[in-house]
Amino acid sequence: METITRLGVVGCGLMGSGIAEVAARRGVDVRVAEATPEALEAGRARLTGSLERGVRRGKLTEAERDQAMAGLSFTADLGDLADRQLVIEAVAEHRDVKTEVLRALDKALGDPAAILATNTSSIPVIDLAVATGRPDRVIGMHFFNPVPVQQLVEVTPALSTSTETIERTLAFARQLGKQTVQATDRSGFIVNALLVPFLLSAVRMVESGGATPEDIDRGMELGCAHPMGPLRLLDLIGLDTIEAIAESMYAEYKEQLYAPPALLRRMTAAGRLGRKSGRGFYSYPA
Ligand code: 3HC
Repeated sequence: METITRLGVVGCGLMGSGIAEVAARRGVDVRVAEATPEALEAGRARLTGSLERGVRRGKLTEAERDQAMAGLSFTADLGDLADRQLVIEAVAEHRDVKTEVLRALDKALGDPAAILATNTSSIPVIDLAVATGRPDRVIGMHFFNPVPVQQLVEVTPALSTSTETIERTLAFARQLGKQTVQATDRSGFIVNALLVPFLLSAVRMVESGGATPEDIDRGMELGCAHPMGPLRLLDLIGLDTIEAIAESMYAEYKEQLYAPPALLRRMTAAGRLGRKSGRGFYSYPA
């Protein structure tokens, strides 16, 4: 089985930049693509900022930072990913956006054996796989936020995914120092299928006046040893991302449990997306 040494990452937001950072720190040649030069610059700044923070906190040496930076390249043209052996898309959690990116990547990739992985957590992988001409080489590779910290990658084959693709993907996740679980292609896979209803219940508790965000979070942090309560976690993940995930899960299961509560919709409409916009359930001064 050929080792993956040339990775492409499409999307350099919270997840994409984390994936690119982890891979570059493991010596993989990583090319990051974004839709526009502006988004690319923002992504590059996020990624280099995280590496600098790592140096400041003693997590990596300056030489390791320089080595990681040397393995990173950036482009606003998907055509520049032609020589990649694996491309992970980490664009917004919207079916149309992901489908379009995967279609374009399928055309751009020169290596017929190249794998297309999607970081989706809620859109059925098969729906994305059949949009390409290589449904046997499309797979779910779902990372967790913050990617440099969280150990897990959920690997989700579609019905069409070949055994070889699964094995290469599992091996690559291990190469990144991650642990894996294998899920079936159901919206939310394992972790979000359990986590998202919990987060939505916390929003409903705020909505109904059951408790304040602070008390809900303190309750779960001190009572159940969660590293952060559900509302702080919503702010970390991004309320728009959770709304999109909840929509996909509701479309799949048609159960009220997964329906995004009105308060979540109103907050995303108001631009209160959590940490990334400076305000969600809490405020984050710049
Ligand atoms: N990049 C790199 N390292 C980071 C980091 C980042 N963005 N954020 C935190 N860290 C590291 C710190 O350097 C620190 O390392 P150290 O203990 O070795 O010094 C460690 O993580 C702890 O960080 P802090 O002391 O700053 O803060 P906390 O102790 O509060 O931890 C946290 C922050 C790691 C975010 C922790 O609160 C946590 O694990 N929260 C839960 C996160 C979670 O549940 N993520 C999954 C979300 S679901 C998901 O992503 C799926 C998607 O589909 C929705």
